[in-house]
Amino acid sequence: MNTIIASGAGGVEQAANLLRLGEVVALPTETVYGLAGDALNAGAAAKIFETKERPAFDPLIVHLPSLDWLDRLTTAAADPLVAELIRRFWPGPLTLVLPRRPLVPDLVTSGLPTVAVRMSAHPVFRAVLEQFGKPVAAPSANRFGRISPTAAEHVLEELGGRIPLILNGGPCAIGVESTVVAPEAGALRLLRAGPVTTEELAAIAPVHAAGSIIEAPGQLASHYAPGTRVLLLTSAAEADAWNGPENAGLLAWSRSLRPPRFSTMEVLTPANDPREAAAHLFAAMRRLDAQGLDLIVAEPPPAHGLGVAILDRLRKSAAPR
Ligand code: TXA
Ligand code: MG
Repeated sequence: MNTIIASGAGGVEQAANLLRLGEVVALPTETVYGLAGDALNAGAAAKIFETKERPAFDPLIVHLPSLDWLDRLTTAAADPLVAELIRRFWPGPLTLVLPRRPLVPDLVTSGLPTVAVRMSAHPVFRAVLEQFGKPVAAPSANRFGRISPTAAEHVLEELGGRIPLILNGGPCAIGVESTVVAPEAGALRLLRAGPVTTEELAAIAPVHAAGSIIEAPGQLASHYAPGTRVLLLTSAAEADAWNGPENAGLLAWSRSLRPPRFSTMEVLTPANDPREAAAHLFAAMRRLDAQGLDLIVAEPPPAHGLGVAILDRLRKSAAPR
């Protein structure tokens, strides 16, 4: 299949037409690029799993074109905590796991009694949904277990030849995937750390870490993995003292001089700003991964705010495969 990269109003129309035909297309969101298909069409959902080589036990996020869809897809629209989260964070990078209604195909939820829903703030994504008029299921547009794409070129690397269209909306402003929470009995179970921080959520309701059962496969230890082995340090001082024999690249947090034992370096945030670091994270990992290194050595981010989501992605990329 020939993959076209499109943009502008013509691209939006092409994407909506392909969705109507049951095809899957890559669309930009504010977090990462998504691989979208008609959420109410099991055939389109099957195409998403097949294209990503994603195991069927890993459910998809459903993206809503408008708020009235919440009550059609879930039974939680009247829950005051859900209403408060939506008022505060939608449209935006927060995904809610809610009890579902039968309209959602089993394949989309992997047979779970819940469905993950979100509303993207990206103008291009919203324009496509407005023309399509229905919700789309959209996981990150990478092959399963690999780094999420934050630019149209990354999607081409991942899925080129497998999908008809990539809609180019430029680089993603946030750069890490949405926060995933399950509101339950007035509290929030955090299933994936993300751009909406635990501190922000805790201002609304108590936040509990997910249990030890893997409820969101995004929690699988080895995820977000580049091809090159990744070692996560516990401090920046360890990078200065690095004495490894391998041909290693440094994924630095905020420094200007490369420690001499590293053959190359990517700096996530010269300004020491976690938002800047998140926006650069996956592209920097891809660039290091393309250099034929024996090892990528990553400095740890600060373990609060958005740093928690970045630390989570680095841990997963460093986990044994
Ligand atoms: O920012 C994002 O969330 C991006 C953009 C494209 O929207 N999407 C994304 O999708 O990251 P994906 O499929 O790569 O990650 C969705 C996560 C997975 O870890 C999945 O297991 C979890 O959400 N999830 C989906 N439905 C669930 C459910 N019913 N219960 C628990 N976890 C669920
Ligand atoms: Mg993903």
